[in-house]
Amino acid sequence: MKSNSNDQTYDSLLTISWEDNAVTLIDQTKLPGKLVYRRLRNYNEVADAIKKLMVRGAPAIGVAGAMGLALACLASNAKNRDDLLADLQDAFTVLRDTRPTAINLLWALERIMKIARKGKNVQEIQDKVIREVLKMAEEDIWINRRMGKIGSRLFRDGETIMTHCNAGSLATVGYGTALGVIRAVKESGKSIKVIATETRPVLQGSRLTVFELQHDGIDVSLVPDTGVGVLMAKGIVKRIIVGADRVLQTGHVFNKVGTYQIATLAKVHNIPFYVAAPLSTFDLKSRVEDVVIEERDPKEVSTMAGKRIVPRGIHIFNPAFDLTPPQLITIIVTEKGLLSQPLHKSIRNIFKL
Ligand code: MRU
Repeated sequence: MKSNSNDQTYDSLLTISWEDNAVTLIDQTKLPGKLVYRRLRNYNEVADAIKKLMVRGAPAIGVAGAMGLALACLASNAKNRDDLLADLQDAFTVLRDTRPTAINLLWALERIMKIARKGKNVQEIQDKVIREVLKMAEEDIWINRRMGKIGSRLFRDGETIMTHCNAGSLATVGYGTALGVIRAVKESGKSIKVIATETRPVLQGSRLTVFELQHDGIDVSLVPDTGVGVLMAKGIVKRIIVGADRVLQTGHVFNKVGTYQIATLAKVHNIPFYVAAPLSTFDLKSRVEDVVIEERDPKEVSTMAGKRIVPRGIHIFNPAFDLTPPQLITIIVTEKGLLSQPLHKSIRNIFKL
C-alpha cells in the first residue's frame, strides 16, 4: 500500500484518510483476517467507529475525531457562522465522549474548533477546517518519522525489542510511534527482532502488531501477556518500547493496560523501558487523579471469538489503560528529542514552561 506524504513515498498501511469529502479507514476489528476499508459519511458514524475500536490508538482517534468535525461542518445546514459553530460544538461533544483516556482526541478536536472560530462565514469555516484536517493527517506521518529517527539511536544491532499493544501504523495515520521507532531502527540498517505481547483482552498485539510488522517484513514473535517475565528473566529482551495515550507534566504515562506490569518487570531486570509519544499526547494540565481510565464492556473478557469462556455471574474488571509512574521509564522519545530523567524537568524544558 503506497501513500504520499511530505514528498516521501511511504509504503506501509494507511489507517485513515480524507477522500472526496468522506473518511476512509481500515476497520481494525476485522484484522488480521480481512483488510476491510470503511467509508464514513457523517460524524455519528465516526463516533461509532471510535467506540467500536474500528479505529483505535491515540493519534489515529485524534485524526478520526478531527475528520468527524469536518464531516459535521459539511453536513450542517447552518446559514451563518454562529449556527455552524453551534452545530460543530454538538459534534465536538459526541466525538469527545467516545473514549476518555487518550488525550490526542481532545487535542485534535480543540485544534479544529479553534480554527473554525477563526472563520468569518460558513464557507470560510468549511475551507479552514478541511485544510486543517488534511494538515493534521500529513503532520502525523512526518512527526512519527522524525520520532522514529530520533528514537532509533537508542537501539543496537542484533537486539530483541519488546513492545505492547499496537503503537504502529494502525494506531496513527501511518508509520507509528513505538513501531515507527522500530521501523526506523530497521531502516538504519540494524538487524532487530521484535517480541509483541498479545495484549488481552482485545488482542491488539496478536491481531494488529504482528500483522503490521509481518506486512513490513520485520522479524516478529508473539508472547502471551503472562509470558513477558520469563523472557526478561532469560535475558532475551534487550529493550522495551511502547506508545502512550497520555503523558502528564510529571512524566506519568497512561497506556494500554499491562504496560505498568511490563515496566515494573523491566525495572527488576534492568531493561531500558522507553515510551514513544508525540507532543500531541502530552497533557500539561491534568493531575493523575483527573484522568479517567476507560472501563470497557466485560464481554471483551468473558468471551473469546464470540464464545463465552467465563462462568456466568462473575464480576469482571476490564480497565483499558493503566498508569506507569515516571520512575519506571528510562526515556520518552518525542519528535523534538529524547526526554530523560528527571522526566518532569525534561518535559518542562521541551514545552518551555
Ligand atoms: O485501546 P486502544 O487500542 O486504542 O489502545 C491503544 C494504546 O494503548 C496504544 O499503545 C497508544 O494509543 C499509543 S498508539 C500510538
